[in-house]
Amino acid sequence: AGIGLGAFAVVQLRDNPKAQQAVDEIYEAAKDFGAAVADGYREREEELNKPAKRPTTPKKWMKTAEIKRRWLEFFEKKNHTVVPSASLVSQDPTLMFTVAGMVPFIPYMTGLLPAPYERATSVQKCVRTLDIEEVGKTTRHGTFFQMNGNFSFGDYFKKEAISFAWELLTNSVEDGGYGFDKDKLWVTVYKDDEESIQYWLEQTDIPKERIQKRGMADNYWSTGQRGPAGPCSEIYFDRGPAYGIEGGPEADEDRYIEIWNLVFMQYERADGGTKDHFEILGELPKKNIDTGMGLERVAFLLQGVENIYEIDQVKPLIDLVSQLSNKEYGANEQDDVRMRVIADHIRSSLMLMSDGVTPSNEGRGYVLRRLLRRSVRALRLLGIDK
Ligand code: GLY
Repeated sequence: AGIGLGAFAVVQLRDNPKAQQAVDEIYEAAKDFGAAVADGYREREEELNKPAKRPTTPKKWMKTAEIKRRWLEFFEKKNHTVVPSASLVSQDPTLMFTVAGMVPFIPYMTGLLPAPYERATSVQKCVRTLDIEEVGKTTRHGTFFQMNGNFSFGDYFKKEAISFAWELLTNSVEDGGYGFDKDKLWVTVYKDDEESIQYWLEQTDIPKERIQKRGMADNYWSTGQRGPAGPCSEIYFDRGPAYGIEGGPEADEDRYIEIWNLVFMQYERADGGTKDHFEILGELPKKNIDTGMGLERVAFLLQGVENIYEIDQVKPLIDLVSQLSNKEYGANEQDDVRMRVIADHIRSSLMLMSDGVTPSNEGRGYVLRRLLRRSVRALRLLGIDK
């Protein structure tokens, strides 16, 4: 697995549109390195393919690479240009990292550059370290993640964005979709956005009772600084009563997991303010669509595992740490958190290094150093000191 991940990093160095495909292939090959890890992985795959025991586990197990492939194919068929992932080192001098799928497209939204296409789709590698302390403790916080996105630059708007999302999520697996159970999906909209509610009701099977209105803190998206902003509509999956209280995303965001955010980018926001109150400077030149679907989140739901660290692309690292430390994953919550932290941080570190970041005392290099230090600390606490 280690050799594979090294190769994984090296391939990412090449500025080649086929790199992402090569990464998937190398990742597959990496499973064959180290018999113990590979055996563990195969057992896991067999286990996951068994019929569901839990109410929310899926009927079919879908690999992360397959979820990604289906995404790109779906939007390519809807006339979107497939754009390879940009570097984690953001081209935008005001952002340290690529924190969302929309970052490489900001100049097209603000009108700084003419968009070379009206519709685009990508699976963007992202790094966000704001919630680093939550990593390993929750189901869904990762410092590295991949964001599936579809974008419109002055072309389609709310109506089509809502219809595309519903189609891809609920189409059967045989028809190229993800096969989510319609009855388990919930939607939130910005409190004043009656138009979106109408589109949800007219174009999908979502009943009114499963649409919730929320305020700026939850349903108005931006990168947190001056730039494109807009009200959003989020789609959630209900994992069932075993995971929390009834009442939709408004009541419990652990039971109801956000999987896809549709942002209606039509305003420019100012710097400053708070999460639930910031100044809107005016309208963008055109109305744009920016969506973000968390690839690892969808993978954990479609693979019937408990969190983003147990999916096919991350679990081999936990297995390796378990083997090295001689500690069973699942036996002790504190050790499990450490194993998940290591899996997450090593993955982020490799991805950062493959995009040219080196450890240092400031900026991006400091973030990398912190991720590595936290990994080493967690390894030591697990008794691995070599
Ligand atoms: N840009 C949409 C999101 O990150 O959720």
